[in-house]
Amino acid sequence: MTRPMLLNAFDMLVPVHQSPGLWRHPESGVAGFDRLDYWVELAETLEEGGFASLFLADIPGIYDVYGGDGAATARGGVQYPLLDPLVVVPAMARATRTLGFGVTASVTYEQPYLLARTLSTLDHFTEGRVAWNIVTSYQDSAARNLGMSGQIPHDERYDRADEYMEVMYKLFEGSFDDDAVRADPEANVFVDPERVRPIGHEGRWFSVPGAALTHPGPQRTPLLFQAGASKRGQQFATDHAEAIFFSGGTPELVRGWVDGVRDSVEAAGRPRDAVKIFSLATVIVAETDEEAQRRLEEYRALVDTESALALFGGWTGVDLSGADPDSTLEYVATDANQSALASFTTLAGGRKWTVRDLAEFVAIGGRGPVIVGSPQTVADELERWQEEAGVDGFNVSAAVRPADLERFSRLVSPELRRRGLLPEADAVPAATLRERLTGSGPHLPAEHRGASYRRTSAVAAGRG
Ligand SMILES: Cc1cc2nc3c(=O)[nH]c(=O)nc-3n(C[C@H](O)[C@H](O)[C@H](O)COP(=O)(O)O)c2cc1C
Repeated sequence: MTRPMLLNAFDMLVPVHQSPGLWRHPESGVAGFDRLDYWVELAETLEEGGFASLFLADIPGIYDVYGGDGAATARGGVQYPLLDPLVVVPAMARATRTLGFGVTASVTYEQPYLLARTLSTLDHFTEGRVAWNIVTSYQDSAARNLGMSGQIPHDERYDRADEYMEVMYKLFEGSFDDDAVRADPEANVFVDPERVRPIGHEGRWFSVPGAALTHPGPQRTPLLFQAGASKRGQQFATDHAEAIFFSGGTPELVRGWVDGVRDSVEAAGRPRDAVKIFSLATVIVAETDEEAQRRLEEYRALVDTESALALFGGWTGVDLSGADPDSTLEYVATDANQSALASFTTLAGGRKWTVRDLAEFVAIGGRGPVIVGSPQTVADELERWQEEAGVDGFNVSAAVRPADLERFSRLVSPELRRRGLLPEADAVPAATLRERLTGSGPHLPAEHRGASYRRTSAVAAGRG
């Protein structure tokens, strides 16, 4: 049987997400990124196009590495201004039936007690269609504005994140029994206090003695997304994630990560395919190959290389302002996103990247491939990537937003459906996002470490 292709749309509540300069294209609608209708219409389009979810990236700071300030970032609208992705989800959920929503929240800067409540609220309001993209964050500017003198060192952020997850599992899985909310007017009991318990967490970084602020949603723990690419980040993903994202320019580069993750997932006692893996793809589609190529040329004319370097500086912590455009990039360890720099240096398969090459590459589609062509060409290329990189699907990003995602839904999705890779929109049952993406039940599967924080029925039966 043909392996289905899972589609996530990858977006952010900003003027420029991955393709600096293209907000100036006449078809760009991003001047309206601060209108609710923009996001509701996008959600409807994606659902019609068979997307399983819309993944909304987020960062808690400004990219201010390039040139030592945020001027280039502001001028180019480079992930700035940045609206809060969690706020927009209920409106999109109301307008859709099956689309999932992946929201990003930082374990370095958000308190677990309150974040658990926010995510449970979204899980209720979306009827179980929410995923949480767990990030440890990588910006010094975030640390400075959130009361710290600098970032927690890279690997330590993940050690702390492990404890954070323990607190979250206790709140989502262990604090409320399924039948704790009774809303029983006869008995005059809304919540049965016998069926709610304090989590009693006391650890190195967090102290959370009390019970969860609210009852868990249909999934209890929301579906867990993660995108760690460093050794420590991958270990974290292996331990917690149910879906993982990679950005890489070639199937070989992504395959290396994919094989590593599947090996370690298996070594950790989880099924090899327990984690769904997505890689980034920016798709420029038109009715014919020639038209799509013309479109790409049009896009290239709008590329803004200074903004691209501001984006790259934000990811990597490396300031390339004033660098000779023909100088070669070298790897340096930073406390920012190490894999973003590695993919153009140590993991570049021997290729030497100059600053100029980098700026031009990043300017359309960030760190992933740009797939250009007719619906048939795009579908062929996606199938090739799926096979060679060993991924379960794609994080589809638009260069001109939202037009490229609309064209994807209108042109590529019908072709994928013809090939049996994507279900018809009305054939998708209403279910939680976990059920849709992983094929398991609505809750964390038994072999996931978070499930061990669940009160078993035997324990529950013994309650006084
Ligand atoms: C597709 C994708 C989406 C990501 N989205 C975010 C995001 O929204 N916010 C964030 O802080 N980091 C984001 N990251 C960065 C990762 O969380 C992670 O820090 C990065 O891949 C580097 O891995 P490392 O932390 O193991 O070094 C994303 C990474 C990828 C590949």
